[in-house]
Amino acid sequence: MFYISAKEFLLWEKKQLFKGGDKKSFYLLLESIAGISHNEINLLRLNSEGDFYFKKNLDLIESFWDNHLTNNVPIQYLSGFTFWRDLKLIVSENVLIPRPETELIIDIVLNIFGNNSKKLVFADLGTGSGAISIALALAHPSWEGIATDIDTNAIDIASRNFINSSNQTNLKFCCGHWWNPLEHLKGELDLVISNPPYIPEEIYKKLPVEVKNFEPKIALLGGEDGLKHIREIIYNAPLYLKEKGWLILENHFDQGSIVRQLFLDNRFTSVQVLKDFSGIGRFTIGRYK
Ligand SMILES: C[S@@+](CC[C@H](N)C(=O)[O-])C[C@H]1O[C@@H](n2cnc3c(N)ncnc32)[C@H](O)[C@@H]1O
Repeated sequence: MFYISAKEFLLWEKKQLFKGGDKKSFYLLLESIAGISHNEINLLRLNSEGDFYFKKNLDLIESFWDNHLTNNVPIQYLSGFTFWRDLKLIVSENVLIPRPETELIIDIVLNIFGNNSKKLVFADLGTGSGAISIALALAHPSWEGIATDIDTNAIDIASRNFINSSNQTNLKFCCGHWWNPLEHLKGELDLVISNPPYIPEEIYKKLPVEVKNFEPKIALLGGEDGLKHIREIIYNAPLYLKEKGWLILENHFDQGSIVRQLFLDNRFTSVQVLKDFSGIGRFTIGRYK
């Protein structure tokens, strides 16, 4: 542990924020590597007498902050962690940093299934850090999940995240191309979720450096029109879903109506495009017949 007086800490904080960058990223860095929350820091402002202790020394935190400001490295890759819903997840440059809007997928599933404690089989295709599948497995211990990804490094991180999050054993991880690892589950899945790579080629080229230079291309690029993977997932879904099984996909902000039509063309019913926090049609859901 490293001790510092509260007054010294507050001066150090001021100096770091004066360098630029956004406050949210700065407090995320402090929370993920030093274990101190923004609320705790605000409390220090009210009572700045006394000492304060840190898990990491401030010079190390400052070097991470400088690296972030100079090179645009995402804070989450510097600290090696991100917070998503109530999970603290390991992340590295091998996995996408799970986004806040994706958290809504869990609410969509909970809305559909409620507190259904019946045994149900679900799959998360392209699990990355494991965020979606882990949140669902933890929320529903009676459900059996399988999470897949094409990248072995992602599978390794996702399995570590599951082990770190609980003692449950209701989630398995498999490496492979979309549906391929699920051959043994044909016609047996009650629910399939995917947040696949969906950024169109031209938009990918113009992404901000902190995304394009650090986050894996394989997690973002969805071919020329962004729909390459979405099409493949929807076309094959009827082979794997149970009758009345649900498919839930995240899509790019302007793909909602095309993805909806792809669901309908593949004999899905109850098809809806649901909005994210910004009112954008971000999720398409439907049932197989
Ligand atoms: C947009 S990221 C989503 C990651 C995670 N589910 C999330 O929401 O944060 C897409 C994921 O799909 C994986 N992926 C890309 N191509 C794939 C393929 N052909 N088969 C399976 N997974 C693939 C990537 O490795 C990446 O982890």
